[in-house]
Amino acid sequence: MKKVVLITGGSSGFGMLTAEKLLATGEWTVYASARRVERMKGLEEKGAKILKMDVTSDRQVQEGVRRIIKESGRIDALLANAGYGSYGTVESVPLEEIEYQYNVNIFGIARLLKAVLPQMRQQKSGRIVLVASIVSNISMAGLGWYASTKHALKAVANALRQEVKGLGIKVSMIQPGVVKTEFDEVALSTLRKIDHPEDYKPLMKGFDKYISDSYSKCPGPESTAKCMFKAITARRPKTVYRTTLDAKFLPRLVSLMPDKLFDRVILKSMK
Ligand SMILES: NC(=O)c1ccc[n+]([C@@H]2O[C@H](COP(=O)([O-])OP(=O)(O)OC[C@H]3O[C@@H](n4cnc5c(N)ncnc54)[C@H](OP(=O)(O)O)[C@@H]3O)[C@@H](O)[C@H]2O)c1
Repeated sequence: MKKVVLITGGSSGFGMLTAEKLLATGEWTVYASARRVERMKGLEEKGAKILKMDVTSDRQVQEGVRRIIKESGRIDALLANAGYGSYGTVESVPLEEIEYQYNVNIFGIARLLKAVLPQMRQQKSGRIVLVASIVSNISMAGLGWYASTKHALKAVANALRQEVKGLGIKVSMIQPGVVKTEFDEVALSTLRKIDHPEDYKPLMKGFDKYISDSYSKCPGPESTAKCMFKAITARRPKTVYRTTLDAKFLPRLVSLMPDKLFDRVILKSMK
């Protein structure tokens, strides 16, 4: 019998690549979900079942999970991957945008967990894979609100892992560094929509350039999708997968630096 996985953010980047890897094994029924269902035609042709699911919608999340249970009778794994970056200074990002950022990156996860965990507890088995980030461990000028959602997600993952340990459910966190997907386009478009006060303009111009340069020379999504695949399929998954070199080493390096030195390094790199 095939195992069943729900992937959010299946229309692009990590979610799409991991869906392809699972489909290629022939061992998984893959439910790929996102808002842009037309982007998942290729996955459908490869055998995926497609769900229109905006993670900010209680109804769409609940209906999607109900459909999976009705059709397949179980859910073996959730890859909670949908998310985006909202960039700009802490003061300048509009409150509605901060709320929306939390609605997608944190409340979206809450909706998914509340929908799938009762089924996994009943099965006495399941795999939850939460897509956090290098910025679960560090933060810097220009991405404070985004990093705060990924810090919060790390806290949720650590708590959940302990709470469900005796229930047959395993929890892993994925922490990618800077990786070329569509993420940077979305994040930079949120940044460029903001009319920062003059005081912040030079810093945000430097931040824009710093981010654009980082994404022009970063790795593609392969190593991260491989880690996602392992977190879903390995008999003994790791608690955390740091998927790129920067994710492995930068937070450790920063933790050894005094805060004021870190501030100087970051602000110099955004000059
Ligand atoms: N790439 C990086 O540098 C990087 C680094 C660390 C962590 N991450 C995390 O990795 C995850 C995947 O990002 P990616 O790099 O693969 O970026 P991506 O190519 O932009 O993919 C993001 C996915 O999230 C989905 N999504 C966004 N808002 C949604 C919503 N409201 N409801 C449902 N789906 C939504 C998008 O689908 P639709 O727009 O079709 O709904 C898309 O499939 C995110 O959680 C991101 O924070 C990325």
